[in-house]
Amino acid sequence: MVGLYQISEVLRQKSGITRLTLTDFRNYEQLRIEPHIGPVVITGENGSGKTNILEAVSFLTPGRGLRSAKLSDVTRITSSCLSSKTPVGSKNFAWAVSAGILKNDEPYTLSTALQKTAQEQEDSWHTFDRRIVKIDSQKVPTQAELGKYLSALWITPQMDRIFSGGPQPRRSFLDRIVYMFDLEHAKRTSAFEHLYKEWYRLLKQGIKDNAWLSSLEEQMAATGVSIAAARRETIARLNTFLQNEPDDIFPDIRLELTGTCEQMLDTFAALDVEDAYANLLYQNRKHVLQNGSLEGINRTDFKVYFKKKNMPAELCSTGEQKSLLISLILAQTKCQLLDKGFAPVLLLDEVTTHLDDKKRDALLIKVRDLKLQAFLTSTDASVFKTLKDDAQFFTVHNNTLI
Ligand SMILES: Nc1ncnc2c1ncn2[C@@H]1O[C@H](COP(=O)(O)OP(=O)(O)O)[C@@H](O)[C@H]1O
Ligand SMILES: [Mg+2]
Repeated sequence: MVGLYQISEVLRQKSGITRLTLTDFRNYEQLRIEPHIGPVVITGENGSGKTNILEAVSFLTPGRGLRSAKLSDVTRITSSCLSSKTPVGSKNFAWAVSAGILKNDEPYTLSTALQKTAQEQEDSWHTFDRRIVKIDSQKVPTQAELGKYLSALWITPQMDRIFSGGPQPRRSFLDRIVYMFDLEHAKRTSAFEHLYKEWYRLLKQGIKDNAWLSSLEEQMAATGVSIAAARRETIARLNTFLQNEPDDIFPDIRLELTGTCEQMLDTFAALDVEDAYANLLYQNRKHVLQNGSLEGINRTDFKVYFKKKNMPAELCSTGEQKSLLISLILAQTKCQLLDKGFAPVLLLDEVTTHLDDKKRDALLIKVRDLKLQAFLTSTDASVFKTLKDDAQFFTVHNNTLI
């Protein structure tokens, strides 16, 4: 178990959040919390604002946060803005999250906020929402920079259906796993989306500019194949880890990627797959307008198998699915520690639901022994009694932390 020895070496140095400040964020006008690098338990009634705190932490990493929310929905709504005629989101204050963090004992400050910009377009003014990011008070051009300083992995109640529901959230989950290993991946997926939108717009508007369409198809194929290759690499890396370092409590799992491009890369060189993909896009010009879906990397899916039973996750019980998801997140945490050399923050929202007492306590002890920072929530503080000497306990009430 060489990996586990290396993990404990990495964890000698602390990484995580030491101060978190929210401003006009969801139900909080102002909130400040100084968590330690260890288990941080947040309890409170339903709707008190526990998940909102975890969401704020997730905005300190690249992406759309753990709720995949629209940026303007995050700005605090007050009773006065509901009763006034001003539309929600047009208020001149916007949400902000800032934090003091440690990355392997080195302190940094990270902040992110919603910025509204007005732009004149075709004689009228439009406002655009953007998430701006500062590192040590310096504005940085892309959110991807955040990934160099902090990384977060989460399990939320919505993910209870990750294996049995439709493929889209699973694909986003997959891409999030990939870009935790490979920061370029976020750029690739957004570049692909951009190209696809442009291509779709031309087709929809009936613009038959063959050179333009072909050029977009070539670029989509090249970007698409690099997305597929990165997904394959990450899944292979995780499978190797899962095989060599199986968990002692949570079930053994195996991951499988299914996707046209990903599978073609098993047998063909990347350049040949690119040609085939560009050709597929060309063939799809007509169909995409009829059925709105496109073969290729935006159809990719991944499956998780409960190894002992050789059972696909979607056929397992709710409790088993939760355990499989935990196996995956634990492997990802450890793999990431080895690859990136610093610990991620775990955001475990109502994670104890569907777990029996034995598994619940085993998970809490694992989280404690990993010695990384983990935010854990529940309506019921007693589920965390195993952590009573090791965790910080906070309660949310009336939009403040006690
Ligand atoms: N933009 C917003 N402004 C003010 N309150 C919000 C906003 N978005 C969500 N909320 C409130 O936040 C609460 C939900 O918080 P959440 O963190 O999900 O609670 P829980 O403690 O159950 O996890 C709800 O009461 C909701 O009304
Ligand atoms: Mg919640």
